[in-house]
Amino acid sequence: MQKRKLQMSEGWLTQYQRSIDDNATFWAKKSEIIDWIKPWNTVTSGSFQEGNVKWFEEGILNVSYNCVDRHLSKYADRIAFYWEGDNPKHSQALSYQALYDRVNRFANVLKTLGVKKGDVVCIYLPMIVEAPVAMLACARIGAVHSVIFGGFSPVAIADRVNDAKCTFIITADGGYRGGKSIPLKTNVDEAIKNCPTVEKVLVVEHAHNINNWNDKIDVHYYKLAQQVDVFCPIEPMNAEDPLFILYTSGSTGKPKGVVHTTAGYLVYAATTHKQIFDLKDGDVYWCTADVGWITGHSYVIYGPLANATTNVLFEGVPSYPQKSRFFDVVDKYKVNIFYTAPTAIRALQAEGDDAVLANTKRDSLRILGTVGEPINREAWHWYHDKVGKGKCSIVDTWWQTETGGVMISPDHTQYQKPGSAMYPFWGIEPAILDKNTANELKGALTAHDYGAIVIKRPWPGMMRTLWGDHKRYMDSYFNVYLGYYFPGDGAYRDKDGHYWISGRLDDVISIAGHRIGTAEIESVIDSHEAVAETAVVGIPDAIKGEVIYAYVILEKGITPSELLKQDIMEWVRKTYGPIASIKVIQWVPMLPKTRSGKIMRRILRKIAHFEEQQIGDTSTLADANCVKNLIANRSDYRIVKKGSQ
Ligand code: PRX
Repeated sequence: MQKRKLQMSEGWLTQYQRSIDDNATFWAKKSEIIDWIKPWNTVTSGSFQEGNVKWFEEGILNVSYNCVDRHLSKYADRIAFYWEGDNPKHSQALSYQALYDRVNRFANVLKTLGVKKGDVVCIYLPMIVEAPVAMLACARIGAVHSVIFGGFSPVAIADRVNDAKCTFIITADGGYRGGKSIPLKTNVDEAIKNCPTVEKVLVVEHAHNINNWNDKIDVHYYKLAQQVDVFCPIEPMNAEDPLFILYTSGSTGKPKGVVHTTAGYLVYAATTHKQIFDLKDGDVYWCTADVGWITGHSYVIYGPLANATTNVLFEGVPSYPQKSRFFDVVDKYKVNIFYTAPTAIRALQAEGDDAVLANTKRDSLRILGTVGEPINREAWHWYHDKVGKGKCSIVDTWWQTETGGVMISPDHTQYQKPGSAMYPFWGIEPAILDKNTANELKGALTAHDYGAIVIKRPWPGMMRTLWGDHKRYMDSYFNVYLGYYFPGDGAYRDKDGHYWISGRLDDVISIAGHRIGTAEIESVIDSHEAVAETAVVGIPDAIKGEVIYAYVILEKGITPSELLKQDIMEWVRKTYGPIASIKVIQWVPMLPKTRSGKIMRRILRKIAHFEEQQIGDTSTLADANCVKNLIANRSDYRIVKKGSQ
């Protein structure tokens, strides 16, 4: 454990106490972090039980104005984004004034194409300046954006576009990652064959990787941008108008369209960003997340820009063209605050210090953040001792797409325990419940007796619904443990009151910190012509945290082979996206099902984890011999355990 620092901060804890004792007054004060066109009337109303939580009702504001326009009087020349291309020779610095100009033009292009307040616009872009510009342009005119990660393939795009009934897609003629060109426009062309609502595809020039152009649908962004006005007025938005939809995976069914609204989300993203990262005037801040994920929304775009931060926006990958790329970029822009995922830290650590660290200084670093999955002790120490040279605070932030912003995090002024997210943020009241009885577990717990973490009261940044499916919203998050928000994670609180997240309690697999729904992957594998039925589970992986172990039943008459395994793996990469890495395929004649036909995934997980002695009761299985067969033919893949916690 890092030594306790002498200077103990009163700030976080006193503010925390105030936020719990008088929540409404606390957030009323914090709402001053943004500018309002018309002040709100009621700080908060509604409840988890009713599923009708609202914040800052009657308030009128515009997010684009808050992230750009209002900074111009003081910071017009301040850099908003240092954009660093995949190719180190490509970079550009964009001031707040330049960002303002681009957002205005982009907004006018959208209007020219007929985009109106309330329309849902899909954004499928690489990490280029036009990604934040497009998001802010939507916010400026009151359109709701739905960003889809650039690594998703056509089927995944189509699912998300159809669920939100998007009429517009913004994409690029390609992107670059690790020296490879990504065919974004081609993926969109493929996807929209199955998307009847799409009317226009706006294409930003970047990588010139286009196979197909359809004049009826495709529009050149830059051509149109030259023809529009340079100024676009802001649309006054109600505090509870939707700002964006972001799809995330659940354990069953299709991805969920998490809806975030305008004011509460922005207040929460800006407040957490400022406090957790100890933001100081003039800091250079770099969050490596892609804008396709919630971390990219809250901590690359909305939180930092609301705080007039100078950001690095990076198109590439951590170790291209050289292993030290991340830290070369840190030195190049003198980054003070760096925020990344444990999977990236582990991958770099595995490359060796000579290649990754030796030729970089990293002297500018002050705060190092992590997010997305638990960080193991070895990776934490490497990050702290080697990357930060023992002088940076590590903030291990726990939160989710649904929560909008960080929920539990260390206080940068206090000592940090490797692997613990530590303190609830202001206004966040967590509890640990016994998973079976739902009773609150009050005392000190250990890694062995963790429970379900829940949140006891609403906070401004929480999602308000799932797009088009409020019932699923209630059932997934509020009707599991009545009266609480249930994030789906296990956790415990130690004797010092610090929180430790132990991982998902449901069937969601976390690969490199990305949530992958088992049902989504299974339906992709099932769609392979040789496959009859599939069940997938996560198995530990030293770098990615988890990877996929798939149990596959082949169609009658198909001969199993290594070649077929490779083909199925490739099919999933192509159909879902490269993030869904299947490590193992085991051919099986049947799956362990209950008599009512439900797959007993618990059994499959234990077998894949080589923990069959803990399988427990199998009396409800329709065919008891199934388990023996699965164990006998299990892949001899050796599990590399995650580092000790
Ligand atoms: O299981 C938790 C894990 O990531 C899940 C949320 O995934 P997503 O919505 O994609 O958002 C990721 C970025 C905010 C959580 O339910 N998770 C996130 N952060 C941590 C974590 N697990 C442990 N420690 C963390 N710091």
